[in-house]
Amino acid sequence: MDLPHKNAVYKLQDYWDERYTKEENFEWCKSYDDFKELIHKHLRNSDRILILGCGNSALSEQMYKDGYRNIVNIDFSPVVIENMKRKHKHLVEMEWLVMDITNLTFSPNSFEVVIEKATLDALMVEERDLWNPSQEVRDRMDSVLKQVSHTTHNHVLGNLCISQVGHSIFYPHLPPPHPPIEDNYEPLPVRKYFKGSNKRVNS
Ligand SMILES: C[S@@+](CC[C@H](N)C(=O)[O-])C[C@H]1O[C@@H](n2cnc3c(N)ncnc32)[C@H](O)[C@@H]1O
Repeated sequence: MDLPHKNAVYKLQDYWDERYTKEENFEWCKSYDDFKELIHKHLRNSDRILILGCGNSALSEQMYKDGYRNIVNIDFSPVVIENMKRKHKHLVEMEWLVMDITNLTFSPNSFEVVIEKATLDALMVEERDLWNPSQEVRDRMDSVLKQVSHTTHNHVLGNLCISQVGHSIFYPHLPPPHPPIEDNYEPLPVRKYFKGSNKRVNS
């Protein structure tokens, strides 16, 4: 797949729709095998799991085959949701929904776990300095994280965030409403899982 001329297009639904008419599978950041140790450690098979911006990644399928059946996948591209629904119709307990992560419509406490991989990045594609984002992006990110908190159960296990933004961080106890990231996250020993990962928030 050719790289787009401008990073800014990664935030456009049209870009993704067009891309997903041609592309069957692409794994952003890391594959399930790279971090499944974390999943096994922190998730129960019975957990209700929301995957934000699923794209055409094999993550949900691999988790499903690993025993995590209660997965809802969302993406704002109807093209990829249709493709994934068709491709995985035999995985009957898994759901695929067209939904924008900036406007989640789930009832409160619908999930124990929320996973995002390379999706929050799409909200920041116009930033010049990821470590000093604009107020607009901070507000957008804050809004998404608040909605995620609202969507997750009071006894939330955590949110797994694998993005350039999150730099592979895991929020083991994220109480709603979401507090400032700086004060609350516990970085994992990500080097163990993400060899070669670039700049990190914490060492
Ligand atoms: C970089 S891809 C990552 C796909 C997949 N999570 C992976 O790891 O391979 C970003 C995905 O987020 C989706 N996306 C971007 N902005 C979104 C939004 N506002 N709401 C829902 N999905 C969004 C795109 O359609 C795309 O599938």
